[in-house]
Amino acid sequence: MGLLDRVKQNQTVPPAGPTGNGPAATATLPGAATTYASASTAPANQTAAPAAPAAGVQRGPVGGDLSPAFAAAKVQIHSKLIEKFADEIDSSNKAGVREKILELAEEYFRSTAMTMTKNDKERLVDSVLDDVLGLGPLEALLADASITEIMANHPKQIYVEKSGEPTLSAVTFESERQMRQVIDRIVSLVGRRVDESTPICDARLKDGSRVNVVIPPIALKGPALTIRKFAKEKWGPADIVNRFKSSSPEIMTFLRSCVRARLNILVSGGTGSGKTTLLNILSSFIPENERLITCEDAAELQLQQPHWIQLESRPPNVEGKGAVPIRELVKTCLRMRPDRIIVGECRGGEALDMLQAMNTGHDGSMSTLHANNPRECLVRLETLVLQAGQDLPSRAIRETIGAAIHLIVQQSRLRGGVRRIVSVAEVIGIKDGEIQTQELFTFRQLGVSAEGKAVGFHTGMGTLPMRMEHLRSEGEDIPEQLFAPIKQPSPDKLY
Ligand SMILES: Nc1ncnc2c1ncn2[C@@H]1O[C@H](COP(=O)(O)OP(=O)(O)OP(=O)(O)O)[C@@H](O)[C@H]1O
Ligand SMILES: [Mg+2]
Repeated sequence: MGLLDRVKQNQTVPPAGPTGNGPAATATLPGAATTYASASTAPANQTAAPAAPAAGVQRGPVGGDLSPAFAAAKVQIHSKLIEKFADEIDSSNKAGVREKILELAEEYFRSTAMTMTKNDKERLVDSVLDDVLGLGPLEALLADASITEIMANHPKQIYVEKSGEPTLSAVTFESERQMRQVIDRIVSLVGRRVDESTPICDARLKDGSRVNVVIPPIALKGPALTIRKFAKEKWGPADIVNRFKSSSPEIMTFLRSCVRARLNILVSGGTGSGKTTLLNILSSFIPENERLITCEDAAELQLQQPHWIQLESRPPNVEGKGAVPIRELVKTCLRMRPDRIIVGECRGGEALDMLQAMNTGHDGSMSTLHANNPRECLVRLETLVLQAGQDLPSRAIRETIGAAIHLIVQQSRLRGGVRRIVSVAEVIGIKDGEIQTQELFTFRQLGVSAEGKAVGFHTGMGTLPMRMEHLRSEGEDIPEQLFAPIKQPSPDKLY
């Protein structure tokens, strides 16, 4: 069956890659490593940089409120395309399809004596093209490199996140029907279906963007769609330190040593606080010759090491069979002789398998966990271990955690959308049945800037890590002044 036949029948059509699936750009960020490089020797290729904008990025929203004439023209041109060119359309030849649409648009304008500015005409053609080959109005948002998250609350309300802040977009779906078609295209890509009986679905776009769909009757206002766009721009430690000021050079230097010296690290944080991003950055410090296995629910990690196996869990198929939960991945990967295991996020019983792996010779493993501070992170880890259903006494669980986890890095999304490492805490053992930690670094927030963004500075707590000797014995030359408290900087130096 031809592509347009399927459109005709209103079935799902695999979309063309939303923004093109070209390789990520590898240009270097000018001056990126300057401050941070003085405290570290991160290889230049790890200080990645802004990607060149994808071709066709500079275009206006095509799904915004359409005038009746514009909407009518769209419908006509779209159905003419199906009528005349069904079966001739090659979805891999976007330019060719666009040409055909343009031809039909010109014909429509002649026959209706309708006039349109050149810009509007382009918009119209792009809009039909997006409906036919892509994800309709979402295409413009996916193509806009400054947008990191797309949140459609219902067909007529789409929020986007730009520079860390959610804003209402002018783009909307034309109707609930159009939104459902787009959703169907997305979920069919991963061989799934959403309907009343299975109203929730996680999927991934071709370019790696993570998608969550919830439809009625669960979503009361109409279908809801959330897309975490795949970051085409690969950030390195220098971006986190110099560009976003999420970490001080001292903290990054320390974390780099901890990764290289094979400490087990948990990145803790709230939703969208930047946990996965930080885990990616930390993994860039792992030496090239190690065998790494990543286990994730939605593959987001992008390791640079060559000896890397990437595993992704699978939801059940439409018959409810074939599920491969992340827990099984963690168990399996132990039989694959990894040097380190990286679990994208601990959300359930896999926490126990990961802790056991950490305690049985897979030092240097890492994961993320949803919690608001290091203490809560440990409590939550305990709860997750209980979900493994092994009926372990709480003392045994704490001992396992206390022995397995060495460091907790707390990431937060603060006022105004800025992301900061707000605490680095070392797990130092167990006392009276409680896991003991000591804070090595913190972010002191002093206020909020005129633009509404949190401002402050990072400082050491004046405490040396308990594992200083270990770090040194692993060849990590860490100066003690790294941990010294910093005097409050002048207001112009705050961030
Ligand atoms: N240090 C940072 N500075 C600025 N923006 C950041 C930073 N880290 C991450 N982001 C942005 O924040 C968004 C969320 O990042 P990320 O996916 O790493 O968060 P997360 O905590 O793993 O989210 P989730 O809880 O949904 O898994 C992304 O769009 C990313 O571009
Ligand atoms: Mg994440």
